Amino acid sequence: MSRFLVTGVAGFIGSHLSDRLLKLGHEVVGVDGFTDYYPREYKLRNLVRSRSQDNFRLVEGDLMELDLYELLRGTSGVIHLAAQPGVRASWGTNFSLYLRRNVEATQRLLEATSKAGPERFVFASSSSVYGSAGDHPVAEDAPRRPASPYGLSKLAAEELINVYARERGLPATVLRYFTVYGPRQRPEMALARFIDAAIRRKPVEIFGDGLQIREMTYVSDVVDATVASLEARPGGCYNVGGGLQASVNDMVQTVSQALGTPIETRYGPAAEGDVRSTWADTERARLGLGFEPRVGLQEGIEAQAKWSLGEVSN
Ligand code: NAD
Ligand code: UGA
Repeated sequence: MSRFLVTGVAGFIGSHLSDRLLKLGHEVVGVDGFTDYYPREYKLRNLVRSRSQDNFRLVEGDLMELDLYELLRGTSGVIHLAAQPGVRASWGTNFSLYLRRNVEATQRLLEATSKAGPERFVFASSSSVYGSAGDHPVAEDAPRRPASPYGLSKLAAEELINVYARERGLPATVLRYFTVYGPRQRPEMALARFIDAAIRRKPVEIFGDGLQIREMTYVSDVVDATVASLEARPGGCYNVGGGLQASVNDMVQTVSQALGTPIETRYGPAAEGDVRSTWADTERARLGLGFEPRVGLQEGIEAQAKWSLGEVSN
């Protein structure tokens, strides 16, 4: 069994990944700085399962300050999920946070990783590097035209990783996740907001006409792909998408069915940086990682709704 360093371990995806690695018998050293993008108590709740395991160690701290080389010694791989996420908040003066947390922190981790020499470096990138998909699925070599400063910051991190891979032989794999949902989803994301509003019998706010399309990926499918990338040959870049596209209006409809309650909708202006559609071509991940998304939208939204209602613990 191996020891892995998971950055962003207290976040939505990082905590699920940690739970899975521990279940597989691995040791996890989890790093998180508990940034204030959303409340600390949510992140502590995300970690309940991992922290109950003996082979888990939480290191609280900022990637910009920690002694990363020391943390990396003896680890077989790094899965780098720590970031400042969120497309719509990345404009204006906030951008300096995106640069620090997505680009500078990644560069600091790359320096330490290339010296400590683990066998794997896996990076959580984003569909946001592409910009809008238009009317066909995008493959990994499609042009990258981010529509938001967030997308640009993820693309910059990818390119930095490519430099370390070419010049220092870093064994890096880039995974481009497409809108991830499920229990523990970040509270500002669409489904989390829609479910929360529906439970509290409040109207939901839709940015634009609600016809924008997202490729939706259930969190356990994302974890499957990420674990597979630790076992596959290092190198390369893969789209990780759930294989289904839903409009925002479809999402509201499905939440309403899952909770058995009508939902009032309020339409407002479209959000800046919000792409019209995302759509993943996942053939490369199927061939290279054996990736097959397994959870459909209705099933996934029902699971997230049950979790939000407190009917299931995690
Ligand atoms: P999240 O905000 O829930 O988790 C990120 C965690 O990183 C947070 O707990 C935060 O405290 C931590 N962090 C941020 N900067 C840090 C730093 N400098 N040092 C230490 N810790 C730091 O986000 P998430 O939704 O779980 O996303 C995880 C990763 O996946 C991110 O890299 C994100 O860009 C990427 N991604 C997410 C989605 C999605 O739909 N959620 C889609 C595509 C890509
Ligand atoms: C998500 C994540 O937030 C990013 O971190 C990630 O990188 C990105 O997916 C990705 O796929 O790469 P986004 O697609 O904007 O970004 O996800 P949501 O926040 O769930 O929004 C989905 C859609 O719902 C957007 O069009 C948004 O404008 C809309 N929305 C969101 C609303 O209409 N109302 C809301 O209250 C929230």
